[in-house]
Amino acid sequence: MSDPLVKEEIGRDNPGKKIVIFDEIDSTNTEAKRMLEKADLREVQNLHDTVLIADHQTQGRGRLGRNFYSPHESGLYLSLILLRDKGDYVVPTMMTPAAAVAVCRTLEKLSGTECRIKWVNDIFAGGKKVCGILTEGVLTPSSEGTAQTFNGVVIGIGINVRGAEDAFPQDIQHIAGSLESAGLKGNDSEKGGPVLSRNAIASELLRQLDIALREENRMETVEEYRAKSLVIGRRINVIQGDSSYPAEAVSLTDDCHLLVKPEGSEQLVELQSGEVSVRFAD
Ligand code: BTN
Repeated sequence: MSDPLVKEEIGRDNPGKKIVIFDEIDSTNTEAKRMLEKADLREVQNLHDTVLIADHQTQGRGRLGRNFYSPHESGLYLSLILLRDKGDYVVPTMMTPAAAVAVCRTLEKLSGTECRIKWVNDIFAGGKKVCGILTEGVLTPSSEGTAQTFNGVVIGIGINVRGAEDAFPQDIQHIAGSLESAGLKGNDSEKGGPVLSRNAIASELLRQLDIALREENRMETVEEYRAKSLVIGRRINVIQGDSSYPAEAVSLTDDCHLLVKPEGSEQLVELQSGEVSVRFAD
């Protein structure tokens, strides 16, 4: 079934957003960073609230230098550009967790099916990863002079909308799924409706991001992130570069840092998302 991306449909309920749609691009995050990096002080102001969406990415990127599989007509690949001084936003390390909550709220509202979050940036539905988030900071010209500041943020969200589990590359088939394969359907028809449309998801997601990324809503967002956590109370492996250690995931701080108790230790270790990832140990 065809599900073309339509700028007017996505923009209708998001009047402040500047939406750009690509048929094919290397990566919407890379393109957003290129736009920010080459903009002068005046141009950069106009990039705030720009949304890049691609039908297909040739070099979709995930966290920690991984690829993000982004085939034609199958997913929603979206990057939102924000200038931090243009709004009362959560701190940069909270942006990925806030975006994760926004994705869950979007999918739950449209489908009625519960989604869960694997710290820090993976959204699961039906036991499979259906979405990943990559937030990147970009230096932009500062109004104080020639110096650059980390005012630019690119929040990249990739949602696997369509496709059977065996359509994913073999090395990620055990983990990746799509909304379709997880059984998420529109909740607007008695029979569960069709597979969600990318335009409907993008439109609702932009609205939910506006809410979840606000500092004034942070505690509500953090509470929801905690409630949806797949890792709290579980045995995990903490992976940092080439090394890893077993631990128990104990809780999340008010900034969504993960508190873990390494095996054989009583001391809690606080993990920021930076260069760390976790895997379930059981
Ligand atoms: C991850 O799973 O580690 C994060 C994946 C993030 C993928 C999205 S798709 C839109 C944007 N462009 C990219 O190249 N990456 C993000």
